[in-house]
Amino acid sequence: MSRYQAALLGLGLLFMLLLYVGLPATPEQNSWVWRDPNVTVLAGLTLGNSPIFYREALPLHRARRAEVVLLHGKAFNSHTWEQLGTLQLLSQRGYRAVALDLPGFGNSAPSKETNTEAGRAELLERVLRELKVQNAVLVSPSLSGRYALPFLMQGHHQLHGFVPIAPTSTRNYTQEQFWALKTPTLILYGELDHTMGQESLRQLRHLPNHSVVKLHNAGHACYLHQPKDFHLVLLDFLDHLP
Ligand SMILES: *[C@@H]1O[C@H](CO)[C@@H](O)[C@H](O)[C@H]1NC(C)=O
Ligand SMILES: *[C@@H]1O[C@H](CO)[C@@H](O)[C@H](O)[C@H]1NC(C)=O
Ligand SMILES: *[C@@H]1O[C@H](CO)[C@@H](O)[C@H](O)[C@H]1NC(C)=O
Repeated sequence: MSRYQAALLGLGLLFMLLLYVGLPATPEQNSWVWRDPNVTVLAGLTLGNSPIFYREALPLHRARRAEVVLLHGKAFNSHTWEQLGTLQLLSQRGYRAVALDLPGFGNSAPSKETNTEAGRAELLERVLRELKVQNAVLVSPSLSGRYALPFLMQGHHQLHGFVPIAPTSTRNYTQEQFWALKTPTLILYGELDHTMGQESLRQLRHLPNHSVVKLHNAGHACYLHQPKDFHLVLLDFLDHLP
């Protein structure tokens, strides 16, 4: 071996040693780099070609099966789920979590497409397809029932789970229509929600595979009033999905 080759070999060994020492240690189970949920635009999602905005927190551990799609009520938007910590929590637990701005809310422009039941179902279907959501668990509070219920009726085979939170529009469907759906469902409502909570429960309990959780000391937006309980119950449901 020439002196030149020996020097090269020495350099190589030194380099490997530096590389080894410089490598970060394997991260502890409970330490992770937190990435904030961010806003991304999906171009051309409504029929009017205007984009639908969403916030997504990418799972930090290996993604589990259920992918949670969060809709919102009339006074809210996708940011609500970030403020409440829901996006972050789901992501920490390894679930993919996406929150949408429905048309006419947050950053999403209104769309004529949403005037019809079929249009609203179609819109959700397109969003799931664009986002490549495979095992959607749809969380639908209040007004978002306008989207979620029509979608459930025609697209239930695409749903891995359903979490209605006192949604609107349940009255539009018959008992028999609910009976026919196998989707695992967690019905959530607030103890103090005597109108929408009760009304939707009367219809939703015809879904054959459901459980009901009434959040104590909480009104219509029960997830805002009792976020800790809401998160516990939601995670428990997700953890037990097949
Ligand atoms: C924002 O989200 C997009 C899509 O989920 C992802 O590709 C991108 O890396 C994220 N950006 C940051 C800064 O986390
Ligand atoms: C419920 O029915 C009413 C009246 O037929 C209709 O205007 C409304 O769009 C329906 N809602 C849903 C979610 O389909
Ligand atoms: C009912 O839903 C639960 C999850 O909540 C699931 O584990 C179970 O397999 C479902 N049962 C049927 C018969 O689909």
